[in-house]
Amino acid sequence: MHVVLPSGDEAVLLTRYRDVRRVLTDDRLSRNLDRPGAARISRHNSMFQDPRINPDPPEHTRVRNLVAKAFSAARVQRLEPRIHAVVDELLDAMERSGGPVDLNEALAFPLPVRVICSLLGVPDTDVALFRHWTSAFLSVSHVPPEEIREAMAEMSRYIAEHISHRRAHPSDDLVSAMIRARDEEGQLSEYELQWWCRLLLLVGYETTATQLGGGIAMLLSHPEQLGLLRADQALLPNAIEELLRWKIVGSSLSMLRYATDDVELDDCVIRKGTSVIPGADCANQDPSRFPDPQAFDITRSDNAHLTFSLGAHFCIGAPLARAELRIATGALLTRFPNLRLAVPAKKLKRVEGALLEGFTEIPVRW
Ligand code: HEM
Repeated sequence: MHVVLPSGDEAVLLTRYRDVRRVLTDDRLSRNLDRPGAARISRHNSMFQDPRINPDPPEHTRVRNLVAKAFSAARVQRLEPRIHAVVDELLDAMERSGGPVDLNEALAFPLPVRVICSLLGVPDTDVALFRHWTSAFLSVSHVPPEEIREAMAEMSRYIAEHISHRRAHPSDDLVSAMIRARDEEGQLSEYELQWWCRLLLLVGYETTATQLGGGIAMLLSHPEQLGLLRADQALLPNAIEELLRWKIVGSSLSMLRYATDDVELDDCVIRKGTSVIPGADCANQDPSRFPDPQAFDITRSDNAHLTFSLGAHFCIGAPLARAELRIATGALLTRFPNLRLAVPAKKLKRVEGALLEGFTEIPVRW
């Protein structure tokens, strides 16, 4: 299907699970959009076109493997007590306020940004800066281009200073681990270190925040499913996967690819030079892969959704995101047995002009 992007450029949107899966695992479909003729996501924001954000294999794979080595499952596990502690602190404050509160401000946004601060080893007091930079980076049209450039330059300076501080004073954080990471071809260069720190910060926080807030809103507006979960918290990991299948964080626009060669699909050929959106959100609703896909069913098994992508760019933060979603959702439902939306679900408004289309506010009471 041909679609027009916010920039006015055209791309082919793939909607079938099989096609999306194939495209995501084929290196001939590149994430590097800095090529003549490649579609642009937005005319306002040139960051999406930056080849340093989206390099191709094999260079990308070498660097990514080094980062993955530092960002191990053991590191995520070690972060779990910190996630529990931040969640408890936020829920205490929420309870003290007596409500109603906006769940975005009370829990969904502060949690992942504080976890990213712990991960990178920067102080919680700089949280407001991180929120400002991320919001500029993810803007398709709501932030003027000069403000985006300014925000990115500020962030670069901040990260560079942090890295040089960590070189002098190593600690147990991810940045120190990335500085130490090595393979037979060497270690991360200063430039690669900076880019990956920025990438983790930019893509690792608002995604989780949007999914967490939106996921809870989805549960609260489906009382039957919420009842099942309240009756059996062992269903929580399953419920988190079903909420991810619904891909509450927004469209698949950010997964835009460029065909560097002709690529054959089952019944068509993607011609070299075509820009392609692997529609993970559509694939997650494909009836040939997910029986009764429109049903929100937290008992669904075999839920191999594509929300974290696949292949060379598969989300490196998926284990961390899953841990945050599970811990926060579980603790919130336990602490507030009567939690409910303070406005009808239909009144919740979507964020506009940004890559992530979460809700502007999620008022809740208990
Ligand atoms: C619910 C939360 C999240 C969602 C839905 C999500 C989704 C995604 C998707 C779809 C991609 C791949 C895009 C593509 O194929 O074009 C991706 C990549 C990435 N994600 Fe996540 N993400 C989440 C949370 C996180 C977290 C918590 C972190 C880290 C702290 C993170 C770090 C990254 C990085 C570094 C990449 C780039 C990987 C690469 O290019 O090799 N993400 N994410």
